[in-house]
Amino acid sequence: MEYFTLNNGIKMPMAGIGVFMLTPEEAERAVESALRSGVRLIDTANGYMNESATGRGIKKSGVAREEIFLVTKLWPTVYEKETAVDETLARLGTDYIDLLFLHQPTDNWREGYRNIEKAVKEGKVKAIGLSNFPEGLLKEAIETMEIKPQVVQVEAHPYFPQTELKKMLAETGMGLMAWFPLGHGDKNLVNELVFTELAAKYGKTNAQIILRWHIQSGHVVIPGSKNPDHIRDNYNIFDFELTKEDMEAIAGINKGVRYYTATPEMIASYGTMELKEDI
Ligand SMILES: NC(=O)c1ccc[n+]([C@@H]2O[C@H](COP(=O)([O-])OP(=O)(O)OC[C@H]3O[C@@H](n4cnc5c(N)ncnc54)[C@H](OP(=O)(O)O)[C@@H]3O)[C@@H](O)[C@H]2O)c1
Repeated sequence: MEYFTLNNGIKMPMAGIGVFMLTPEEAERAVESALRSGVRLIDTANGYMNESATGRGIKKSGVAREEIFLVTKLWPTVYEKETAVDETLARLGTDYIDLLFLHQPTDNWREGYRNIEKAVKEGKVKAIGLSNFPEGLLKEAIETMEIKPQVVQVEAHPYFPQTELKKMLAETGMGLMAWFPLGHGDKNLVNELVFTELAAKYGKTNAQIILRWHIQSGHVVIPGSKNPDHIRDNYNIFDFELTKEDMEAIAGINKGVRYYTATPEMIASYGTMELKEDI
């Protein structure tokens, strides 16, 4: 495993698992399976409505809480709720969160940020992250907030490697956690010839080559999967290294195109989107 060191000295594993769009049953099984395979970073969110299941998966795995780097996200409708962090902790069945994100840059994000800062001071949260925030708001948070954000979570993959954002992150020392690291499973991306050729060269799968490219690009990866074999493979990416030429060949498929672009109207609508019960 390789690690990204946060400015509070805590080491964040570079590879984990995400549980977006998994039902509670699937999430519980995926988290347990991942932890049993050696994965130690888990990414969930209030908005995934599977935090309780994630907590159950952690307990079932038998892995000690302090060995796990647990990541979740507050949803905009609870940014201003005083009990938002405590309710998140209760669902996860834990008394601290390693990294807590604001999930979306809705107008009330500053209130949400201060809510998390309070939780950091109370020892309930170890580090703060911002998900899907544009550069301008990231800069505002860095310049005006008492506790600095440490990680951004954004869409990133070989078709959209976040080249511009990474220049800014390099200046601030913030980490990048990549969502849709496998293009949400897009076969066009996964089956690109360059990955098939490199997979043959290294005796790995195409997905492993993509994930290794992320690690060597400095991205923390949280691939989603319900398949125990994929979950194990996605973690088994630390025993080989792509060459400079391999990395350049992969850079050649950058299309500068995202799978998902949120319009201002969509972001505003997140602020009123109530979540279903997390069971
Ligand atoms: N902050 C945000 O707004 C945001 C948005 C989206 C996602 N996320 C986070 O990012 C995580 C990853 O995103 P995602 O799950 O949507 O997309 P992804 O990780 O890019 O792709 C997941 C898809 O790839 C397939 N897959 C996984 N491992 C594979 C392997 N080794 N070989 C072949 N196929 C494989 C999975 O199918 P199988 O189940 O068959 O393996 C699934 O269909 C989420 O779970 C979530 O934690 C955050």
